[in-house]
Amino acid sequence: MSEQPTLKLNDDRQIPQLGFGTWRITDDEAPGIVSQALEVGYWLIDTAAIYRNEGGVGRGIGEWSDIFLQTKVWNDSQGYERAKRAFANSLQRLNRSFVDMLLIHWPCPAKNSYLDTWKAMVELREEGLAHSIGVSNFRPQDLERLVSETGVTPAINQIELHPHFQQRELRQLHDDMGIVTQSWSPLGKGRAFDSDAVRSVAQETGQPAGAVIVRWHIQHGLSTLPKAASRQHMEQNFAALNFELTEEQMARIDELDDANGRIGEHPDEVN
Ligand SMILES: NC(=O)c1ccc[n+]([C@@H]2O[C@H](COP(=O)([O-])OP(=O)(O)OC[C@H]3O[C@@H](n4cnc5c(N)ncnc54)[C@H](OP(=O)(O)O)[C@@H]3O)[C@@H](O)[C@H]2O)c1
Repeated sequence: MSEQPTLKLNDDRQIPQLGFGTWRITDDEAPGIVSQALEVGYWLIDTAAIYRNEGGVGRGIGEWSDIFLQTKVWNDSQGYERAKRAFANSLQRLNRSFVDMLLIHWPCPAKNSYLDTWKAMVELREEGLAHSIGVSNFRPQDLERLVSETGVTPAINQIELHPHFQQRELRQLHDDMGIVTQSWSPLGKGRAFDSDAVRSVAQETGQPAGAVIVRWHIQHGLSTLPKAASRQHMEQNFAALNFELTEEQMARIDELDDANGRIGEHPDEVN
């Protein structure tokens, strides 16, 4: 396993800080792209049932053993029985006997099923089929309810987080609760490249802008999932492991935070 920064989870396992996102990579593209990402050195691969690429991701991983694989239970599979069935199908598509991390994709407040989904996932963890379990897009009230009703704290919450939407309050709550924050759309789907702060730091460090943004996530103690279809982008973002930003450079990117900077869907509205 290559030397990479990791974070300790509340179940005593470790999670890599640098991951690779696969949303919008098709099932046909996934074997080639995922095997390239593994060659570049990525170790954590993030997929989801709804990405409809678990089969391709599994083929891309093949016999590769240095891997931290995450998938997610989609909204229409919430509930105790449904989640178990859906996860069995995910494992089959991935062609694996377990995943390293299983997440509830969205809280779906109108469905009101995440407690039952979570109970199924706690059992899947006990059975060794999901080594760690966590959530995604959970709001403070969802996290607090999950823990007070089940007594099991998620290992991570995967949330939208990039320089233009930094989620500081939710990160603080995660820290208080012992939950690792994982950033989705860490590059702001490309928007983060269009700022003077990122451009100037890239120029000063001589590093690609993608590496600067990913480095900003890593130095904030986040786990992060940049997606890249091209090998050039994969390598640029992976260069984040080779240098450090100064406090002043971090602060300059911190200043991009914008309360209205959300680009993805709001957890209140997804059901
Ligand atoms: N839990 C959730 O609800 C949720 C929601 C959204 C995303 N996610 C996860 O988070 C991952 C990442 O988010 P994302 O895919 O939305 O967006 P992202 O990683 O913020 O941005 C991806 C975009 O940036 C481009 N890019 C990557 N590296 C670049 C570089 N070095 N220079 C220039 N452009 C570069 C990519 O282009 P190319 O592809 O052409 O290289 C792609 O268009 C997803 O793939 C998924 O795994 C989770």
